[in-house]
Amino acid sequence: MAKERRELLYFADGPESHTIEAYESKGGYTALRKALLEMDPDDIIEEIKRSGLKGRGGAAFPTGRKWSFIPKDHPGPKYVVDNADEGEPGTFKDRELLYKTPHLVLEGMILAGRAIGAREGYMYLRYEYLWIFPRIKRAIQEAYRRGYLGKNILKSGFDFDIYVYLGAGAYIAGYAVSTLESLEGKRPYPRLKPPRTSQVGLYGSPTAVNNVETHANVPLIISKGADWYSQMGTPESRGTRLFSISGAVERPGVYEFELGSLTLREFIYEVAGVPKGTEILGVFPGGLSSEILTPDELDVPMTHEGLKRVGSTLGSGAVIVLDRSTSALKILRRSIEFFSYESCGKCTPCRDGGNWMTRVLASAERRGYLTAEDVSLLKEITGMMRGKSFCPLGDSVEMVARVFLNKYKDELTQKPVAV
Ligand SMILES: Cc1cc2nc3c(=O)[nH]c(=O)nc-3n(C[C@H](O)[C@H](O)[C@H](O)COP(=O)(O)O)c2cc1C
Ligand code: SF4
Repeated sequence: MAKERRELLYFADGPESHTIEAYESKGGYTALRKALLEMDPDDIIEEIKRSGLKGRGGAAFPTGRKWSFIPKDHPGPKYVVDNADEGEPGTFKDRELLYKTPHLVLEGMILAGRAIGAREGYMYLRYEYLWIFPRIKRAIQEAYRRGYLGKNILKSGFDFDIYVYLGAGAYIAGYAVSTLESLEGKRPYPRLKPPRTSQVGLYGSPTAVNNVETHANVPLIISKGADWYSQMGTPESRGTRLFSISGAVERPGVYEFELGSLTLREFIYEVAGVPKGTEILGVFPGGLSSEILTPDELDVPMTHEGLKRVGSTLGSGAVIVLDRSTSALKILRRSIEFFSYESCGKCTPCRDGGNWMTRVLASAERRGYLTAEDVSLLKEITGMMRGKSFCPLGDSVEMVARVFLNKYKDELTQKPVAV
């Protein structure tokens, strides 16, 4: 059976893991000491680049490259943003880090600040995690008291402050360009790209936005080195990864594996366990906005390249297992309803397309199946949405409907048998 490799979660073990004492006793903040006293900011970026770390928020963009885009000679402020919105359905791995080892995340943010020359970092915390806020606040206070935050950190001349900003519970606010709008106190309408956030980000200044888990990897890479990190995983998928698994499994939760050390099927059947007699309907391998896989598509390595081969993505690392106690029609209706509800309403294809599809699907669900007219109408709507929405949320609505119509057409259109 595939074994967990708990590199990040090592810091989350134990009832007091959230305290600075526990974190320091496991080597916490040694990376910061090393970075401030022995490395130049460019060395930090170079080390992160060499490690092969890719963003854990969904888009898997190389972190070192992202940081290297931040202009060095920018005369004004620069910012670090920690994306703790974690809104992708099925995703709860950042919560594990924030609750159990907040210092690992804070240290990663400070290191990011040092690397890009920022003096301020903002954690954008999802509203539903309000209950974790006291722990994060306490961790920040502890870090200030120990001299890891504030002025002249560890007598290096480097200043860095961290603020926590509570979101208001919108899925779109997790999209980096919307996160920045929300942080500025506005509605989280996505911004047009380019310019990239590395050039024009928070308050118009260069900003490095990273996911919680991405930041949590940084102290490990700096303290143990890029060579150590990059020998884990595969050439395209380095390091370990946190996966949240939920749905029709016996042991839902957060697990950490070396990337490529197991297949999706092994994760579901051997690690999380499937109750006897359960027949799997499908699996979202990387959150609701990843392409669903059918039961015969699960023998795929859990890597970026593995999931890409079957037309899907590792996404946010959220594996949602669906069994046949539900129906493809219900899952499709519920998914589209979610995206439609969360549409910010800025552009017509997403705002109206999602709503229209929800109504078609809701009436089909009451009837029990999709008619031929429903199918052709849904295809027409997806055709009108494809590539025409302003941001990836609109693409998700279209993609989910298109993939379901492709993979589950027979059962979506099958009339229920009268008993
Ligand atoms: C609709 C939408 C929602 C998103 N929600 C989140 C989120 O909750 N947390 C997150 O880290 N990234 C989220 N992202 C991805 C971010 O835009 C961005 O790629 C990420 O925060 C960058 O960090 P990384 O490079 O460390 O992954 C979302 C993207 C989209 C399109
Ligand atoms: S695609 Fe949807 S969420 Fe994105 S800008 Fe348009 S309406 Fe808003």
